[in-house]
Formats: sequence, structure tokens, C-alpha cells
Amino acid sequence: MIYYICKVNIKILGKEPKMKLITVNSQQELGLLAADIFSEVINSKPDPVLGLATGSTPIPLYKELIKRCRDGKLDFSEVRTINLDEYAGLPGTHDQSYRYFMNDNLFDHINIKPENTYVPNGLAEDPKEECARYDELIKSMGGIDLQLLGVGFNGHLAFCEPSDTFSNKTQYIKLADVTINANARFFSDPSEVPKFAFSMCIRDIMLAKKILLLAGAEKKDIIHKAVYGDITPQVPASVLQMHSDATIILIDD
Ligand code: GLP
Repeated sequence: MIYYICKVNIKILGKEPKMKLITVNSQQELGLLAADIFSEVINSKPDPVLGLATGSTPIPLYKELIKRCRDGKLDFSEVRTINLDEYAGLPGTHDQSYRYFMNDNLFDHINIKPENTYVPNGLAEDPKEECARYDELIKSMGGIDLQLLGVGFNGHLAFCEPSDTFSNKTQYIKLADVTINANARFFSDPSEVPKFAFSMCIRDIMLAKKILLLAGAEKKDIIHKAVYGDITPQVPASVLQMHSDATIILIDD
């Protein structure tokens, strides 16, 4: 497996990134490398807390975790997971809900206890109450050992869209048009894409002990902005410059 640390960035901008930026050549490499980072954390303590993400980029990672679990190299029996976000208005049985995605792409294939997996309730009647419940839940888990992230074309983390402030509580948020358009490809009719979502806040993401962000080649520009640009809530991912243990794996094809 070959990967180049900071290759792209050093070439283009000539300065060291504050986060660890690793570029790989393929989804397969991304999956293996990300799975190594996950394995280290999972094997480091009996009951790790993993913050998980949806999207197309984590799929090779989840496939590799399933494989390692089947091969007896990873044990999820005491692992607890908490997901970043969920569409408002979709039940967990809807094939585009993030609960469905997680069950289908990971939980149903590993030895995790379903009751140890948490995703916001998209059908919550009172969004404010659901946000407060999720805040409490995150607190009660005693800290996230490893938080997985993707990034939006506008630099969003989870569904924390560009804004005037970095959020410090679970959000019930109106999705940006660019996010709705980017996610329309998964729905049979673009008008079906939910306009609101629940999202873990930037504060809770930043409190994770370790952060791993995965990005496809199409996110190269926004990754460069996040890594080298100003730290601003207008580019939420730029906040990661302030984290002491954040790694980005970017596909550079
Ligand atoms: C959605 C999710 C984000 C995720 C993003 C990236 O917008 N809400 O949490 O980071 O997709 O998706 P992809 O992995 O397809 O690049």
C-alpha cells in the first residue's frame, strides 16, 4: 500500500498543514488505512465509543471493518456508536435514512449490540426535545474516542452548514441548497430530499479524542480551504485546524 503524506498540499501551497493530511490513490487504500486507525482505537480499550458518519466515502472503511470482524480480528460486542446526523422526517426504515444506511452498511454485519448504536430520531415530534436528548446522550457516553467525518462541498461537517458561529448544541438545521442538490442523487425524485436534519454540533465533534475525516477527490478544493484557509464557521471543517489529533484521508486520483 502506498500513500503520500501531504503530497498535494506541499506541492501546491508549500506549507505544512496543521492537521495530518494523507492522500491515497484509491477507495480501497482509503478503506484499509481508515480501518487501521479504527482497529487501533477499537483494540485499545474494552468499550470504545465511535462517532460514525454516512455518505459514500466511508463505505470502503465499513466493508473492511466487516471483513476484519468476520475474520475474528475485531470485536464490536462492547463498542458503542453515535452517529453524526439524520434527516428530519424520515423513519429509520426509509432506505435513505441514515439509520437504515448504518444498519445496512455496518451494524447488521458485525457483532455490535443494536441497543448500543445511536442515531438521531428523524421522526421526533419535537425537534427541540430531540436535540436536548441527543446532547444528553452524547454527554452520558463519556466522550467519543474516535469521530469519523465526511465533508460537504461547502465545508459542512455532519449537517453543520456554514454559519456565523460554530454550533455548541445538537442542531435542528435547514439544509443548504448545495447539500440538498448533492444528496438528491440518492432519491428517486429530487423533491423527496428532506430540507431539515438533526446534526451533532461542532463542539461535540471537537471534543472527540481523535478525528478522522474521509474525502473523495471531488472534495479536494474544499479540503485545501479547510486545511490552509482561515478558521471560520463559514467553512465549518476549518475548525479541525484547532484539534490536536485530526487526520484527513483524501483520495487524489
Ligand atoms: C452528507 C452527510 C455528511 C457527510 C457528507 C459527505 O452530507 N450529512 O455527514 O459528511 O454527506 O458525503 P460523502 O461521503 O458522500 O462525500
